[in-house]
Amino acid sequence: MPENDPRLVKIFYEVQSGLPRQGPGNRDSTLRALGLCTNLPSEPAVLDVGCGPGMQTMALAQATGGRIIAVDNCDEYLAQLRQRLEAASGSERVEVRQADMTTMSFADESFDLIWSEGAAYVMGVKRALAAWRPLLKKGGYLAFSELVWLDLDPPEEVARFFGREYPAMKRVDANVALIRDAGYEPRGDFTLPEEAWWDDYYAPLEKKLPALRDKYENDEQALSVIAMTEAEIRMRRDFGASYGYQFFVAQRE
Ligand SMILES: C[S@@+](CC[C@H](N)C(=O)[O-])C[C@H]1O[C@@H](n2cnc3c(N)ncnc32)[C@H](O)[C@@H]1O
Repeated sequence: MPENDPRLVKIFYEVQSGLPRQGPGNRDSTLRALGLCTNLPSEPAVLDVGCGPGMQTMALAQATGGRIIAVDNCDEYLAQLRQRLEAASGSERVEVRQADMTTMSFADESFDLIWSEGAAYVMGVKRALAAWRPLLKKGGYLAFSELVWLDLDPPEEVARFFGREYPAMKRVDANVALIRDAGYEPRGDFTLPEEAWWDDYYAPLEKKLPALRDKYENDEQALSVIAMTEAEIRMRRDFGASYGYQFFVAQRE
């Protein structure tokens, strides 16, 4: 996402607004990762970091009997989550909190489970692993999903794209090594299925783009944000075998 120019950021949010999810993911994958947390108490204390519009928050509320604190710094996504909660069972156990994940403060050993779908990259996986470990009770779990290289030698075009857009992207084994080095035991990982990219994310995102192109037809800055989004989606179509979203589950030792 464009980080420095406030107008580009505003357009980025306009492009991304109103989607069911803000990144790849689906309910089956959330539940599969939850299933790797084999030793959770029946009512776990859960922190969902970078919850966005909260599809996974809802799944966790329904699948666990626990209390969930869902944290994001974006008002609009949190409003979407609040709306979802109005209609749902288990919602009284979810607290929605606007906070910056880099400065959020919780007492040590507050949580049985820390969840973060597609948001650890904000801090970087290594920093996130270090920052979140003390917040977990001993034996507590961390589940996060992260963009990874699946191909040892990706084609040049896709290597160049992510070299620019997400230079910190690593292979699965390098992420597992970070998990171990940070004092967790890896409990499993899996690649999200292709539909997790499309059903709630790229398909509705792609649908929005023609109207935005019309709206901003004379606005080069806005068109550059739209073109970047189109390029990202095209990468998925053309080079999806080279990279993926990996769910990692780890346990604090
Ligand atoms: C790729 S989205 C994933 C959202 C959600 N977990 C999902 O899968 O739909 C990343 C999320 O991190 C949030 N985020 C970015 N920077 C943040 C920060 N500094 N503190 C808290 N949340 C942040 C964004 O607002 C966004 O909702």
